[in-house]
Amino acid sequence: MKKIEKAKMFINNHLHLFQCPVCKNQFIDIKGYQLTCSNRHSFDFSKKGTLHFLLKQSQNEYDKDMLQSRRLIAQEGLWYPVLEKVISVVNNKNGVHLDVGCGEGSHLHHLIQKGLGGTNIGFDISKDAIQLAAAEYTDAFWCVADLAQSPYASNAYDTIFNILSPSNYGEFDRILKSGGQVIKVVPAEKYLIEIRNFVGKNNTPYSNKEVLDKFYQHYPQADRISISYEHNLNFTMWKHLLNMTPLSWNINDSIKEKLILEPFKKITVEMEILIGTKE
Ligand SMILES: C[S@@+](CC[C@H](N)C(=O)[O-])C[C@H]1O[C@@H](n2cnc3c(N)ncnc32)[C@H](O)[C@@H]1O
Ligand SMILES: [Zn+2]
Repeated sequence: MKKIEKAKMFINNHLHLFQCPVCKNQFIDIKGYQLTCSNRHSFDFSKKGTLHFLLKQSQNEYDKDMLQSRRLIAQEGLWYPVLEKVISVVNNKNGVHLDVGCGEGSHLHHLIQKGLGGTNIGFDISKDAIQLAAAEYTDAFWCVADLAQSPYASNAYDTIFNILSPSNYGEFDRILKSGGQVIKVVPAEKYLIEIRNFVGKNNTPYSNKEVLDKFYQHYPQADRISISYEHNLNFTMWKHLLNMTPLSWNINDSIKEKLILEPFKKITVEMEILIGTKE
């Protein structure tokens, strides 16, 4: 079956998980390759089997080249120890899961490979990222959508993954079922410290305090797991790491050249995993 037909079938079977991002009404129908709400707002399926919910084209800092580098780094396992912790705290492994700002899809795919069952949907505002996700991974449903105008139904999701991506706690609260979890992964002070040290030697150290405070405001009972490890890198992966991290966007070209020629053999990954539950 063609990917676009599979996508139609998925949506037909899961209409209750979505709502129109314009008028918030339910979707009632798929006509041809368009999903239509009761007010006749319609959204296109792509040949790759994705659904496009953006109301206007978005500007994105991540180009395809960076996304490819991020994918290679992900597939090489930079974040695997973090993802193993993430899956260990998911309460309902056979529930409905949503990866917010999923990028090119490798994290959600890895979670599925490690035993995440149920229904899995990933979305990102970047069309390039979602195209890459859908081209490689067929174990989840992928949408282009904006968290600020999200097309997800209320009280319908068991788990939200929010890995290194923006949050909207009001929206998370709306779409989660009662007892559902937000699992948010944020960098800690020493995350990629080897690169950070080059970016701004005189800068104050990176702090995630604001992000953590905001999370605890919304989920005062939140659990937290800290994780820290070093990951070995070969030269190729070092170049991809520099290419994919927003940190290196602030490095001028001569420093970047120097960094490329003096590769680090190990990189530090230090992160916080925050787990909030909707009452
Ligand atoms: C640092 S990347 C992380 C991507 C992926 N979670 C990962 O860890 O590889 C942040 C992602 O959030 C996405 N993003 C930013 N604003 C968004 C929004 N309003 N709605 C959906 N995704 C958004 C970006 O396009 C980008 O892919
Ligand atoms: Zn509508």
